[in-house]
Amino acid sequence: MSSLNNKQILLGVTGGIAAYKSAELIRRLQDFGASVRVVMTPAAQEFITPLTLQALSGNPVHTQMLDPEAEAAMGHIELARWADLVLIAPATADFIARLVQGQGNDLLTTLCLASDAPMAIAPAMNQAMWRTESTQSNISTLTQRKVAIFGPASGSQACGDVGPGRMLEASDIALAAEKLFTPGTLAGKKLVITAGPTREAIDPVRYISNHSSGKMGYAIAQAAIEAGASCTLISGPTNIEPPRGAKVINVTSALDMHTASLSEAEQSDIFIASAAVADYRPLAIAEQKIKKANSDTMTIELTKNPDIVADVAAMKNKPFTVGFAAETQDLESYAKDKLKRKNLDLIVANDVSRTDIGFNSDNNAVSVFGPASTDIFSECSKHQLARLLIDLIAQKMPGH
Ligand code: C5P
Repeated sequence: MSSLNNKQILLGVTGGIAAYKSAELIRRLQDFGASVRVVMTPAAQEFITPLTLQALSGNPVHTQMLDPEAEAAMGHIELARWADLVLIAPATADFIARLVQGQGNDLLTTLCLASDAPMAIAPAMNQAMWRTESTQSNISTLTQRKVAIFGPASGSQACGDVGPGRMLEASDIALAAEKLFTPGTLAGKKLVITAGPTREAIDPVRYISNHSSGKMGYAIAQAAIEAGASCTLISGPTNIEPPRGAKVINVTSALDMHTASLSEAEQSDIFIASAAVADYRPLAIAEQKIKKANSDTMTIELTKNPDIVADVAAMKNKPFTVGFAAETQDLESYAKDKLKRKNLDLIVANDVSRTDIGFNSDNNAVSVFGPASTDIFSECSKHQLARLLIDLIAQKMPGH
């Protein structure tokens, strides 16, 4: 049975072209057993009629704050209390801004203020409006306030632009709403993950690093958040957007990552080391840019970096600790050796000699070894793989 069965959903429709999808959304929510009441802003009624949404929802559509007849049937406070979920789809940039400010200048914003039900929004707007700093800062404020943000999707837009800002399809919004009421496999857990490369300075302008993109670690962080965990992402320099809702600690060197990791791992349930940490760093960082010398060769003396994941696994209250082994040969034996030597609970092994998967690719295929287990995941996208790894970790953790 769906987790939305018998749930009462207040569907807010604001004024965007995607409002036509709200009609189908009502149906998809009803398919899951939910009952739906619709509130429309005046602008929404320019795009779709209340009559359509009334016929589909089977309930009168609420459009005005000061309507004695509607208030007599079901007052706005009663309506706010009725909702198990307030879902705004589409949510325009203007509506989002008013929500952030806590305005109550129409029925829908007033209901949002008056309801203590969980809230979700499906943004829909032009890509430039979505990308603009004010919208992005409004979205992060809402995320901090635990408002779920569904989408937006990327693609061609009604205005002819291409980019992020399209409202998710109705069936995807209904599925996302269903997930809100399904406790995640990592609900209540604190997860810390390292990701990306480290940079080891040689002098003020040069460093030693590697080709890690951070994609796998960021995808795992996102899957962990989707599974209900609170997630701290300790990231070396990357070019990718961190997942919404993650606490991000940006670091540069292995030593910085070590300090952040040991402090964050202290109170955590799970620690995942997906970063490609430099094994060595220059023994001394030159204060000034090193000048070209006459000699054809030069030597930089290196010193070993601390092993972050091994140090976390050696902690007294050790979290469930997962490492990665990127190998070009003898995958299984090297990975199993690392599992033991670093005292890990699981190790995710991947073959980095293949150029179609791993390091900079969007896909990956891995084998996961535990002290007495092997799980093989064949090639799929890093996002799919991340979800599978999170499920596996949830199963393997003590108490499951
Ligand atoms: O020993 P190796 O570098 O192959 O081990 C890889 C695993 O150890 C990865 O999980 C990586 O994030 C972690 N690691 C670490 N600190 C280091 C080196 C590797 O946490 N200094």
